[in-house]
Amino acid sequence: MASKIILLPGDGIGPEITAPTIELLRALGTDFEYEEHLFGGASIDAHGTALTDETLAACQAADAVLLAAVGGPKWDTTDPSKPRPEQGLLGLRKGLGLYANLRPVRPLPALYDASPLKREVIEGTDLLVVRELTGGIYFGEKTRTADSASDVCAYSREEIERIARVAFKAARRKVTSVDKANVIETSRLWREVVRELHAAEFADVELEHILVDNAAMQLVSNPADFDVIVTENMFGDILSDEAATLTGSIGMLPSASLGEPGQPGLFEPVHGSAPDIAGTGAANPMAMFLSAALMLRHGLSLEAEAAAIESAVDRALAQGLRTRDLGGSAGTREATQAVLSNL
Ligand code: NAD
Ligand code: IPM
Ligand code: MN
Repeated sequence: MASKIILLPGDGIGPEITAPTIELLRALGTDFEYEEHLFGGASIDAHGTALTDETLAACQAADAVLLAAVGGPKWDTTDPSKPRPEQGLLGLRKGLGLYANLRPVRPLPALYDASPLKREVIEGTDLLVVRELTGGIYFGEKTRTADSASDVCAYSREEIERIARVAFKAARRKVTSVDKANVIETSRLWREVVRELHAAEFADVELEHILVDNAAMQLVSNPADFDVIVTENMFGDILSDEAATLTGSIGMLPSASLGEPGQPGLFEPVHGSAPDIAGTGAANPMAMFLSAALMLRHGLSLEAEAAAIESAVDRALAQGLRTRDLGGSAGTREATQAVLSNL
């Protein structure tokens, strides 16, 4: 039976990068059954909520979920009683139990000079950010009055251990655990649990602990030194956007969000809905193409097809394809054609 994929184009540039991705998947000869759902702001407009029960149930029953991006100025509000597109994303991650967010950062030699960082700094970088995705300050209790607000940051031993296990298994050389153990209590538990798991099960992998402020600096001064970075939800969010600079643009960075075996994974670019360029045809579709590759690899066990997309992207860029975010003038359409012709 054909694998069933739920498509969530979302908002802003989301639909503009989703359509070419399906074109690419079809050109590969795949025969998936697609079911598209409104999500984020588009779902708020139609149903009053960013994620309907029906969409969540459809995602739970699918083989994989492919999401573009949500959000935009139309739904921006500081009023906690109003729905926000981003709540859909958080609800989906939590609802599917997707605690492990993998964000590979593999700058292509062809794009070294598209980065604001020096080529010598980037050279040799090939790292993976393993971001905890269903805990921490994102999901703790929130309070709000007219004059005060709070967000609780909580982690359990079990939540830390399962994400650390993902990181150790993915490591080739080293795991760098990033925390703020000099100040934050959850970070102190984090460090203890990672240390204990390492000693008990992964003593053959090198482990280092570094503080998040230092990590932010090392990431752009000495990125090739990292292999796997494992960190909590919010630190991972911030560090991965920073790491995107190494690849030339946030428009290059894909991600996979995984839960327990048997649960469908969620595959989405790291970038957002880019409202500033939505509707202009200028969006870089590469992060979405590469997220589809991660879906083929991690969600559907189609390694050859995943590798085919990745090498078509590499070749198109090596031939000189540059969208505007990479300093060129190609639009989404041209970028899609260039990748298709290399497939
Ligand atoms: P953003 O990632 O949307 O955009 C940041 C900058 O990068 C913008 O200048 C944008 O034009 C550029 N950019 C991003 N993706 C690009 C692409 N594919 N091609 C070319 N340029 C690209 O971040 P933001 O502006 O902080 O957020 C906009 C909205 O997106 C917000 O509502 C935010 O909550 C939401 N958001 C959603 C997701 C998601 O759905 N996973 C992720 C991040 C942000
Ligand atoms: C991301 C985004 C989301 C996050 C937002 C939109 C909720 O920034 O996927 O990186 O913070 O996780
Ligand atoms: Mn983010």
